[in-house]
Amino acid sequence: MEALAEVVEPGRKVIVVGGVNDVQAYRRLISQGVSEYLVAPVSSEDVANAIIACVKDPGAAARGRVISFIGARGGVGSSTLAVNMAWTLAELTQEAVIAIDLDLNFGTMGLSLNLDPKQSVADALTDSDRIDSVLVERTMMEHGPNLSILSTAGSLKELVPPSAEAVERLVDICRTMAPFVVVDLPRRWNAWVTGTLLQSDEVVIVASPDLANLRDARQLVEWQKARRSNAATKLVISKSDAAKRNQLSTKDFQDTLGTVPSMTIGFDATLFAQLMNNGQMIGEGAKAHKLNEQLRQFARQLGARRGIAKESAKGLKLMTWLKRPKSPA
Ligand SMILES: Nc1ncnc2c1ncn2[C@@H]1O[C@H](COP(=O)(O)OP(=O)(O)OP(=O)(O)O)[C@@H](O)[C@H]1O
Ligand SMILES: [Mg+2]
Repeated sequence: MEALAEVVEPGRKVIVVGGVNDVQAYRRLISQGVSEYLVAPVSSEDVANAIIACVKDPGAAARGRVISFIGARGGVGSSTLAVNMAWTLAELTQEAVIAIDLDLNFGTMGLSLNLDPKQSVADALTDSDRIDSVLVERTMMEHGPNLSILSTAGSLKELVPPSAEAVERLVDICRTMAPFVVVDLPRRWNAWVTGTLLQSDEVVIVASPDLANLRDARQLVEWQKARRSNAATKLVISKSDAAKRNQLSTKDFQDTLGTVPSMTIGFDATLFAQLMNNGQMIGEGAKAHKLNEQLRQFARQLGARRGIAKESAKGLKLMTWLKRPKSPA
């Protein structure tokens, strides 16, 4: 057992099957960190039950899915997509979604949902030791029964940049509170942005079809590939037909990045300005628009299947307070 202990990595569980039916031996093995000791002969059912007991940890915090959005360049429509996706995920799954707007000074998530955040997410990030579910709850604003946001009313206050630990902790706490956490990342490159990318289950890169976007989308995709081998990177082309004659094609992106875009959003300044003015999402103000169905399909790709959301919500105790009763019509 000592020799085995040297090669067992932290977090691995060990089940031992042995011939000694003795309480002292059993206690010694358990005190050495063995999860389960079975006395031979064992049936396949015994083994199955021991494995289930090992992996089932009722006290373990549930892990919601973290989906981050970042623009390849500024102003491409990344925040617009992020908040619409958060809304769509909440609508489709009828489960809790927390959307975090990390554009700390200029974030528009509140504005686009017709909410006026009283507490800014930047204030919650000043001290990583203080971040807990109570602080998150105080900072959050609700939009309907399933969507809550952490954003800003917009402020020119000079902010002390948050630490990577604080942002990581905030995201981690949110993922114990909801099966989906949508993060709107600013187009900046620093320790907390890269840390959040690495922490995410899914990263969605939003790009417009021009050369600068292609270059930076490629840099982002390659950076991710090198560091998150098993994590998916999704690509969305936004404002796709803004300059029909001169723009690059979806195929150019596909060939250069080796990724088929999950969604293509056309250029429609009137639609998006109108939605922003009304504080509405596509699914509210333009329900019949084909973008609404595209968003729903993309949401399914991002895990909006009842099964996945339910799975990650297992044992979630904190979530109950997020499930507010629907307000009367
Ligand atoms: N498909 C679209 N067609 C036309 N306008 C759009 C489209 N998507 C977003 N917009 C508009 O473009 C502007 C920038 O959008 P948004 O803030 O979502 O971009 P961003 O990539 O998050 O920008 P930033 O770099 O400032 O974070 C907004 O006015 C928005 O309404
Ligand atoms: Mg943005």
